[in-house]
Amino acid sequence: MLDPFGRKVTYLRVSVTDRCDLRCVYCMAEEMHFLPKADLLSLEEMERLCRVFVAKGVKKIRLTGGEPLVRHNVQSLIVNLGTLIGEGGLDELTLTTNGTQLTKHAETLAKAGMRRINVSLDTLDGDRFAAITRGGRLAQVLEGIMAAKSAGLSIKINSVALKGVNDHEYDRLVEWCGSHGFDLCLIETMPMGDIHSDRTEQYLPLSDVRRRLERSWTLQVTDYRTGGPAEYCTVAETGRRVGFITPLTHNFCESCNRVRVTCTGTLYMCLGQDDAHDLRIPLRADPTDAHVSSAIDEAIAHKPKGHDFIIERDSKPGIARHMSVTGG
Ligand code: GTP
Ligand code: 5AD
Ligand code: SF4
Repeated sequence: MLDPFGRKVTYLRVSVTDRCDLRCVYCMAEEMHFLPKADLLSLEEMERLCRVFVAKGVKKIRLTGGEPLVRHNVQSLIVNLGTLIGEGGLDELTLTTNGTQLTKHAETLAKAGMRRINVSLDTLDGDRFAAITRGGRLAQVLEGIMAAKSAGLSIKINSVALKGVNDHEYDRLVEWCGSHGFDLCLIETMPMGDIHSDRTEQYLPLSDVRRRLERSWTLQVTDYRTGGPAEYCTVAETGRRVGFITPLTHNFCESCNRVRVTCTGTLYMCLGQDDAHDLRIPLRADPTDAHVSSAIDEAIAHKPKGHDFIIERDSKPGIARHMSVTGG
């Protein structure tokens, strides 16, 4: 699948639910209206869609949300998609999770063939965690992360950089991740959805963060890549990596290789644009998959060049939909 800018689409992000058991302040508004369950694709339909994408050249599938592990019976989807790894054409099946349900699911993920997962964790302080997530329990997530580690999964911690909230914690996060054998990825907050506060209040350019980290750590640039948007350094003192996802300060759209499907079967070609194609209708109209396959071709032929995110005082969110709709 080649887009108009010659980029090959090999990475599919599938949001299995828009629901989440947390309400992170940079992701959701306090009051969110979730989609009626009747609008969701069934897990069987999601699997079918994934199979079509794999047949068309997708090599990596990441399940996202909302929180993917709160979707009822998501394990069955994970196990079925796991059978596509290898001969089935898929190189990697993985997941981005808030970690709250990992204690329950870690073994299943590993058995289904997942090798590594990304867990969102913006702070190591219990009170701050509760404040950022509006009521989440840090201990539950830490327990989940350790269960995933014990199940043999490699772990990358995702932390959104938030000015005045977690900006004095990055040294501690680097150290903590290093001591547990986890990579860390810092992320610039993106203007997606109304969160009832001005994003300039929380936006922190990662160029500043990186300079500050370099006072405490020896960061060695590496060409290690995962197929995701982060650029990585190895932290000489810990031997682990720290990645930087910089949509605002250093746009990475030129090398974009991904599209995302929402839990209602809408295909978004870019996280930061509204261009979308409905796949649910062709999926339901034609059991042979021919319609859905041509709908995907049509969509990829119109993949936009990139996002236009800006964060300025009093500006409206660049994109009205929340991150939880497309899972990032
Ligand atoms: P790896 O496979 O480990 O590289 O994961 P990933 O970075 O692709 O996925 P993850 O779900 O951990 O996402 C981390 C952050 O990157 C989230 O904030 C996503 O919203 C963001 N992200 C992923 N893809 C894109 C993209 O195409 N554009 C932008 N602007 N952000 C993205
Ligand atoms: N900007 C940047 N990252 C975000 N995430 C959620 N909302 C935003 C936002 N507005 C992150 C989560 C998770 C990943 C999928 O996206 O913390 O790690
Ligand atoms: Fe839930 Fe993830 Fe959004 Fe937090 S960032 S509210 S954990 S979907």
